Amino acid sequence: MKTALITGITGQDGSYLADLLLSKGYKVVGVKRRTSLISTDRIDHVFNDPDLIMNFNLVYGNMNDSGCLHRLLIEHQPDEIYNLAAQSHVRVSFDTPEETTEIVAMGTLRLLEAYRNICPEAKFYQASSSEMFGDNPENPQSEATRLMPASPYACAKTYAHNLCRNYRESYGLHISSGILFNHESPRRGETFVTRKITRAAARIKMGLQDSLYLGNLDAKRDWGFAGDYVEAMWMMLQQEVPDDYVVATGETHTVKEFLEVVFKHAGLDIDEYVKIDERLFRPHEVPLLLGDPTKAKEKLGWEPKTRFEGLAKLMYDADLRGLVR
Ligand code: NAP
Ligand code: GDD
Repeated sequence: MKTALITGITGQDGSYLADLLLSKGYKVVGVKRRTSLISTDRIDHVFNDPDLIMNFNLVYGNMNDSGCLHRLLIEHQPDEIYNLAAQSHVRVSFDTPEETTEIVAMGTLRLLEAYRNICPEAKFYQASSSEMFGDNPENPQSEATRLMPASPYACAKTYAHNLCRNYRESYGLHISSGILFNHESPRRGETFVTRKITRAAARIKMGLQDSLYLGNLDAKRDWGFAGDYVEAMWMMLQQEVPDDYVVATGETHTVKEFLEVVFKHAGLDIDEYVKIDERLFRPHEVPLLLGDPTKAKEKLGWEPKTRFEGLAKLMYDADLRGLVR
């Protein structure tokens, strides 16, 4: 039985990846930081399933704590390490740049050092991001597109991404980075724009909210489904040779288009409920992300199964179900 260690287990991707690996018969060690409120909502279903919980181990750990990361790798000797932990909110990274950098950049360095010293035979997945393309107007963006990060979050991700390539080349380690474009789901954090919209629409429909404040509606993103994207992470670590891959749908849409699909599906009038709040604009916006997933398709055999409209509707439906339960 293979053992996989996942940092960021309580996050959107950590929970879908745990589901996938448990279904494949892995033993999963999920690393959780201490929080003042319980933060395991996204993995509670694992605890409630006697077959899954047998192979699941939730442990405390923090990307800011080298000694702890070393101890976890010594204790669990993973075959695969998935580094998903992050302060992952781009807007918030302008407010907390140092904390973001500590977790995303220095945290990755700490984990890589523990990995190369303790279990260098393991395979390592790094959660890189399309945000790293930032100011580069080239599109679609591929593995060859120059990184021009435009936020403290993206700068930290770029450091971690470069470091992973450097460790792979310097020490011959099996490290692959997935340059993932935006991916969403009913488990998406409530402050990211897609979930903010679907949750608000459901609440408005139920009479629990009477307005939705948003920032820049013109930004374009390549949005896919998180459940599809964690499959690509796993596929990368099943390759003989490590590499970097763009994971995207190859379609881009504005925030406004996402809003329109959701409000139409909900039978709501945008003009009646949606207001623009200048405070939600960013000091520096990334106007357009559009990925070219050709390499992932050709080398991994990966393709997205869920498309834009279906994604928006399934997220709204899940939020509505959550309220009428
Ligand atoms: P997420 O929902 O924000 O989850 C982030 C996870 O990191 C949470 O479990 C969080 O724990 C944990 N974490 C934060 N600080 C930590 C620390 N100091 N020590 C240990 N754990 C810590 O993010 P996601 O959407 O699942 O994304 C997963 C990864 O992919 C992230 O690295 C993100 O930057 C990257 N990424 C995401 C996307 C996307 O569109 N979702 C696209 C490209 C790349 P708490 O629950 O305690 O906060
Ligand atoms: N969050 C948020 N809230 N974004 C808004 C809002 C709002 O009220 N109004 C408009 N937007 C716009 C943002 O300005 C941005 O252009 C777009 O919606 C998407 O914002 P987010 O959903 O916060 O995602 P992101 O693109 O900044 O970052 C996500 O994707 C990256 C990959 O490209 C995060 O998941 C990152 O962790 C990830 O790396």
